[in-house]
Amino acid sequence: MTTLNAAELVKDDQAHLIHSLHHPLDHAEPLIYVEGKGAVVKDIQGKEYIDGLAGLWNVAVGHGREELARAASEQMKTLAYFSGYVGSSNVPAIRLATRLVELAYKNLTAVFFTCGGAESNESAFKTARFYWKAKGKPEKGKIIARENAYHGVTGQAMSATGMPLYWKMFEPRVPGFVHIQAPYPYRFQGARPGEGVGQAAARELEEKILAEGPETVAAFIAEPIIGGGGVIVPPDDYFPRVREICTRHQVLFIADEVITGFCRTGQWFALTHWGVEPDIMTFAKAVTSGYLPLGGIIVSAEIKAAMDSVRYEDRWMHAYTYSANPTCCAVALANLEIMERERLWERSARLGARLYEGFLGLLDLAHVGDVRGGRGLLAGVELTADRATKAPFPPGEKVGERVKREMEKRGVVTRIRGDVLLFAPPLVITEAQVDRLVEVVREAVQAVVPGKA
Ligand SMILES: Cc1ncc(COP(=O)(O)O)c(C=O)c1O
Repeated sequence: MTTLNAAELVKDDQAHLIHSLHHPLDHAEPLIYVEGKGAVVKDIQGKEYIDGLAGLWNVAVGHGREELARAASEQMKTLAYFSGYVGSSNVPAIRLATRLVELAYKNLTAVFFTCGGAESNESAFKTARFYWKAKGKPEKGKIIARENAYHGVTGQAMSATGMPLYWKMFEPRVPGFVHIQAPYPYRFQGARPGEGVGQAAARELEEKILAEGPETVAAFIAEPIIGGGGVIVPPDDYFPRVREICTRHQVLFIADEVITGFCRTGQWFALTHWGVEPDIMTFAKAVTSGYLPLGGIIVSAEIKAAMDSVRYEDRWMHAYTYSANPTCCAVALANLEIMERERLWERSARLGARLYEGFLGLLDLAHVGDVRGGRGLLAGVELTADRATKAPFPPGEKVGERVKREMEKRGVVTRIRGDVLLFAPPLVITEAQVDRLVEVVREAVQAVVPGKA
């Protein structure tokens, strides 16, 4: 592809293509990607980059897997699509649902498929409300979510998302969504003397349930490790307490494992780290490693029983055209086979430890305030203007954005949230690529905000 072609494509892109989070200021010099192999992607100019975020946290098995292309091609040639509405089914969807139930938490028994994360969370919220109505508790409708959470941007998912920038130009939000603080060790406010952040954040959940009235709360939703909101890893005592509180007050616990699912954290699913099971798990992204769109919810035996037992006129009138799409399900099955064959949860744990250790080494830089990780290949590096006060840089300085540019120049692409650099590379990344990634982050931070601690 010539440079001229690339320039023409950029012009057409800027004129005719609306991107997620669209703004021309962020799209003045877009990279156009044309190829990928393993943990590396190539742009239209032929420049190669380590993919620091596995696409959008999803390309777990890496780029360029012909096996997945074959699975799609074979299924498309056999039966590309047919309705998955009640009364009709297909073989890959049945096989995938069965496999997911085997892999997921023991108490989860039945799957509904969607096309992505937001649709999965929408489905989870509606199913939680459905469940309580089926149980004769129609007042239980509110959803408690957390600040810094990202759950997608459809109406309800946006309302659960705990980042006001996603609401501002689209309000009003869907009523019935309330927020509490996440267990964000670096910035949590309001822990009592002697109380850890995990305990304090769990206490906030219980206080919120009591303040709202347990008889009005349907569910609590949480990412086991917050992803897009800054890779926030909870203290170990948080989720066991959350589980107890939810059970005590009859509040369903929805785990949004859209990022953390499918080996990302060194386990198939992340709550395993803390020995906790949710009532509903939502998933998407790495279920197909992004090769085709697919997501879903997996619900507990109790919820499935409620769905099966309502009167016919009260049935679960929820649906998507592409639910249980045979081709997407066939690709997911092939993707899960790769994960198992290559034991990618182990690789994620091992390479994740290397990445985290590498990033901890950056704490000798004056403006690296916090390094988060240690649970598989998922890490965050938070930059700060002042290490002592944890004061952020003025947003106008766009420090995170500038560091990201410097990383791109040196051959690493990823995303940021403000001044937090986010990392979740493909699980097939090599040791040498991990080391190079860390080196590039060091150089990029030093180029923008130099200084030693
Ligand atoms: C934790 C989490 N939940 C939900 C979503 C929404 O997924 P989608 O963009 O497929 O709607 C995302 C997307 O990044 C996510 O990170």
